[in-house]
Amino acid sequence: MSSAGMTDGKVIFEKICSSCHGIDGGGKMELKSPAIAALPESYARHQILGFREGRRGHIPEDTPSYLMAMIAKQLTDAQVNAVVAHITSLPRVVPTSLEKDWQNVDLANGQMLFQERCMECHRYNASGEIAFGSPPLVGQQAWYLMAQITQFKKGLRGTVKGDVNGAKMVLSSNFIEDEQMLRDIVAYILSLNPRPERPAKSRDGPFEAVSR
Ligand code: HEC
Ligand code: HEC
Repeated sequence: MSSAGMTDGKVIFEKICSSCHGIDGGGKMELKSPAIAALPESYARHQILGFREGRRGHIPEDTPSYLMAMIAKQLTDAQVNAVVAHITSLPRVVPTSLEKDWQNVDLANGQMLFQERCMECHRYNASGEIAFGSPPLVGQQAWYLMAQITQFKKGLRGTVKGDVNGAKMVLSSNFIEDEQMLRDIVAYILSLNPRPERPAKSRDGPFEAVSR
């Protein structure tokens, strides 16, 4: 789908972006596309321009990122501004629950590492800090957080000359030595998301009675 001629942010989002990022902007794991709903305007714009200008998604072997760059290269400045204004206005989507996805993680270790190594830029509650260019980490799924930290460590993101913000993350992720450490930190970040309301009690009795 080409974006030529489109100027309305909502239309651009629904016609182009939502196929990968979901109609609610909550992301799609099977397409490795992250949540973009409620991203801060300056961060979202900086990333899309980064994709367009070869700061991110410039390595063809890094397929998901490369595909996003191909999309960004088709957008005019006016279209970027319009679509960014739209995604910023979408309500944040809470990622799927910690309890379901995370077995064998050491949350206390994750908390300690986060507070020592991440909090100064991403804030104590992982809500991000616009002044530092650090995005919110709440609202992102575990698989995406793990993938991006790995990208920074491998030099697939944050290593293009002039990518000042990306370079900060390359430095900040280097100390993570193994998968367990990464899982502990990411699990702690997920635990900072607001918990969804518990579903109202069914009038037909407890759920256990249904599944046997
Ligand atoms: C073909 C699928 C696809 C389409 C269509 C697409 N994206 Fe993406 N987008 C991705 C993937 C995959 C990533 C993650 C890239 C990576 O891993 O580095 C991404 C990343 C992003 C990011 C960075 C998020 C972050 O937290 O850093 C933004 C912002 C974004 N896309 C916005 C858009 C907008 C706006 C559109 C519509 C104009 C769009 N995308 C269309 C696949 C897509
Ligand atoms: C010195 C400041 C700083 C520190 C410390 C830091 N970050 Fe970041 N982080 C950033 C900046 C700036 C970006 C945005 C990079 C860009 O523009 O591409 C970022 C981006 C990220 C992203 C990508 C999010 C997305 O939506 O694509 C993840 C994940 C992340 N940081 C996790 C962490 C974790 C986990 C730690 C601790 C181990 C950490 N960061 C420590 C500054 C920092």
